[in-house]
Amino acid sequence: MMIVLGIESSCDETAVALVNSEGVILAQALATQRDDHAPYGGVVPEIAARAHLAQIDRLYTKALDDAKLTIDAVDAIAVTAGPGLIGGVIVGVMLGKALAAAAQKPLIAVNHLEGHALTVRLTDQVAFPYFLLLISGGHCQQLVVRGVGDYVRLGTTRDDALGEAFDKCAKMLGLPYPGGPELEAAARNGNPKAYSFPHPMSGDRGCDFSFSGLKTAVRLTIEREVARAGELTPQIVADVAASFQATVVAILAERVGNGLSMATLGYPVTAVAVAGGVAANQAIGEGLRSLAAQHDLPFVAAPPALCTDNAAMIAWAGLERFRLGLIDDASFEPRARWPLTELARA
Ligand code: KG4
Ligand code: ZN
Repeated sequence: MMIVLGIESSCDETAVALVNSEGVILAQALATQRDDHAPYGGVVPEIAARAHLAQIDRLYTKALDDAKLTIDAVDAIAVTAGPGLIGGVIVGVMLGKALAAAAQKPLIAVNHLEGHALTVRLTDQVAFPYFLLLISGGHCQQLVVRGVGDYVRLGTTRDDALGEAFDKCAKMLGLPYPGGPELEAAARNGNPKAYSFPHPMSGDRGCDFSFSGLKTAVRLTIEREVARAGELTPQIVADVAASFQATVVAILAERVGNGLSMATLGYPVTAVAVAGGVAANQAIGEGLRSLAAQHDLPFVAAPPALCTDNAAMIAWAGLERFRLGLIDDASFEPRARWPLTELARA
C-alpha cells in the first residue's frame, strides 16, 4: 500500500492531507482564509499568499500527527503546482520541493483542476471514461475524463465561471463573501418563480456557457425592486436568490444536456460526475441527477467537503499519477495558468 501527502494552496484554503492507495483519507488539516478576505468581498492575492505561509507548516505537522505517522511512512509528495493565485501556489510548491529533497521522496506536480476532476474516483471509484462538469469559482467546463492526464474539453464559459456568477449575485444581494453557499441558503426561503431571468445561449447547440447576461438581469431586477420597496428587503433577497438559482439549474439542464449527448456519442461514458465548489449546491445536484437519469447513467457527486478546495483531492491525483510512474522533476515551476488539456498523459 502507498501513502501520498498532498498540499493545496492555490486559492483561499491552505490544506495538507494524507491519502492511501485504497482511497482512505488518513488525515486532513485545513485552514480557510474566508475571514481574512471577507472585508474585501473577494480573495486578495497578497493576503492569501501571506496567510498560506503563516499556516502551512502547522498544517503539515497536524496532518502527520493526526494520522500518527512520520514523513518516513509517506511514499510521495503531491503538490498543487497551478493553476491559481501564483503567490499561494509558490508557498505550497516550495514546501513540497523542500520536503521531497529533505526526506528523499518522489515529487508530483498536480494540476488543481485534475485534483477536482479525479475526486469521484477517490470517493466512488468511477471508471474511465466519464463525463465531468467542473464548476468552481474560477472554472466552468464540460469534459470527458478519458484517463489520468487525458481530458477532452467539450465546452467552457465565454465570460464568468458559475461560482463567480453566484458570488457576484450574492454580493449584489448584500450577502457576505463567499456568496455561493449564502445565496443557496437565502434561496430556500424564496419563490423560484418570482422573477423571470434570461437563459443566455438558449437554443445554441454547443456546450459553452455564458452567465454575464443573467448577472446583468439580476442587477436590473434588484435595482427595480429596491426602488419600488424603498429598500432591499429579506423577501426580495430570497426571491431573487431562488429565481437566480432556478434559472441556473435550467441553463445547466440545457447546456449539460447538449454536452452529455455529445459525450455519449463519442465515448462509452460510465457516469455523470460533478466537481468543484459549486457542486456543493443541492439544487444543482438534483438537476444534474435527473439529467443523468435521462441518459441512463449514474450520477456521482463528491461530498461537499471534497467538492470545495482541499488537499485530499491533490494527494489522490498524486497517487493516480504515482501509480502510473508520472513523477516530476523538482525543477518544475508553479503556474498561474495551466489548462487541463496541456497535462502530461499516462
Ligand atoms: O472549488 P472552489 O472551492 O475554489 C475554486 O477553485 O474556485 O470553489 C469555490 C466556489 C465559490 O465561487 C463559491 O461561492 C462556490 O464555489 N460555492 C457554491 C456553493 N458552495 C461553494 N456555489 C453555489 N452553491 C453552493 N452551495
Ligand atoms: Zn478549486
